[in-house]
Amino acid sequence: MNIACIGTGFVGVVTAGVFAKLGNSVIGLDIDEKKIGSLRQGIVPFFEPGLGELLIETQKTGNLTFTTDYNTGIKDADIVMIMVGTPSSPDGQADLKYVFAASESLAPHLKDGAIVIIKSTVPPGTNVKVREIIASKTKVSFEMASVPEFLKEGTAVHDTLHPDRVVIGVESDRARNILVELHTPLTSNVIIMRPESAQMCKYAANNYLATRITFINQIADLCEKNGANIEEVIRGIGADKRIGKHYWYPGLGYGGSCFPKDVKEIAAYAHSVGESESLFIKIDDLNEKRISKLMVQYDQLVGGFDGKTVTVLGLSFKKNTNDTRVAPALQVIPWLLGKGAKVVATDPKAIEDIRPLLPVAVTYTTDVYSAVNGAHVIMLLIEWDEYKHLDLAKMSESMLSPKYFFDTRNQYEPVVVISAGFKYKGVGR
Ligand SMILES: NC(=O)c1ccc[n+]([C@@H]2O[C@H](COP(=O)([O-])OP(=O)(O)OC[C@H]3O[C@@H](n4cnc5c(N)ncnc54)[C@H](O)[C@@H]3O)[C@@H](O)[C@H]2O)c1
Repeated sequence: MNIACIGTGFVGVVTAGVFAKLGNSVIGLDIDEKKIGSLRQGIVPFFEPGLGELLIETQKTGNLTFTTDYNTGIKDADIVMIMVGTPSSPDGQADLKYVFAASESLAPHLKDGAIVIIKSTVPPGTNVKVREIIASKTKVSFEMASVPEFLKEGTAVHDTLHPDRVVIGVESDRARNILVELHTPLTSNVIIMRPESAQMCKYAANNYLATRITFINQIADLCEKNGANIEEVIRGIGADKRIGKHYWYPGLGYGGSCFPKDVKEIAAYAHSVGESESLFIKIDDLNEKRISKLMVQYDQLVGGFDGKTVTVLGLSFKKNTNDTRVAPALQVIPWLLGKGAKVVATDPKAIEDIRPLLPVAVTYTTDVYSAVNGAHVIMLLIEWDEYKHLDLAKMSESMLSPKYFFDTRNQYEPVVVISAGFKYKGVGR
């Protein structure tokens, strides 16, 4: 099939590469000329395992091309996928200006019978507004569909090639048949529903996962009051099949480009439809306060950060990505500097991404061992594989007493860290 992918950001470029790999003829379209220039050379503007190779391979076969021109991108497309950003507005609602702008731009070039899919995360009902915008600017017949995206940064190529499920919201048998045929090579678990339900699936999934993170943080805080250990509690509850053992992350709360905004957006959406007493407002509020809650605790433990040197490990919002959108480091580091600490920061991939976003007072190094030289505190923010088997004794030797290891991801057994000469503090244990 001929596919146009509008928006070659994170979701767009992975989706374009994967559908091209499956043998479709795909054009990636973006208004950002610099980005399109890099993608044409196979240069991905962010770190994502396997993506660079996928783009080079699919461009070599001729299945994938890139353009900034709407006519070139849309005129032959049987399927047009809208994958532009949907940031939160100041009032928390999804800002749909990029979705609407893309819809206006694509409409005059649409081929008769094309299916326009919204893959961006949008509130239910957005497909109706997009249909109106497109219909006002074209005479051809077209159909609308919603196919929300569930990929995870860090494993995005794998997730797109092997999704747990594909959710397709459609209104006609024709669109249903075409989209099932398109997605069947990826999975047999294609779930068909109305567009509004598909859009709710995306919000429901992300809000449920954000709720789990907030929930386990609440339980972890209670564990600290009574000598329980959150890791043992997770093992105990996870054995219950109704609960499951995966996706328990006590720590600094959720971050990244999706969860914070999707929680704010569903809360604002609930309010806009008259549901003012929603769980989502509380989840958002607890998550917003999470990092400062832990920082206050750490400040007390070290007897005040003023004059101390803190080495921060992990600057992206999670491992295996250089994406720093709503990364904990963006809150933690200014907080530490505000308390008078000196901060040395390290990360395997995200240093250059975060540098412009933080005060110039921060010192950076890619070498984790030189990063701790002369420091009093190690603060592990992100569980990169590179930080899983650190030589703690070697690190301890070059640090100043009293030495603290704040393990916000419960990556280390306390006894191992303590025996290397540190005072240890994890989360909920
Ligand atoms: N990043 C994720 O992990 C993820 C996962 C699932 C869903 N989503 C959702 O997918 C959508 C896209 O997210 P993203 O992270 O890829 O965003 P992004 O910011 O990385 O990319 C958006 C792209 O759209 C382009 N763009 C904006 N306006 C345009 C226009 N009028 N025409 C053409 N291109 C235009 C931008 O230049 C940019 O390259 C959002 O709704 C997001 O919530 C993201």
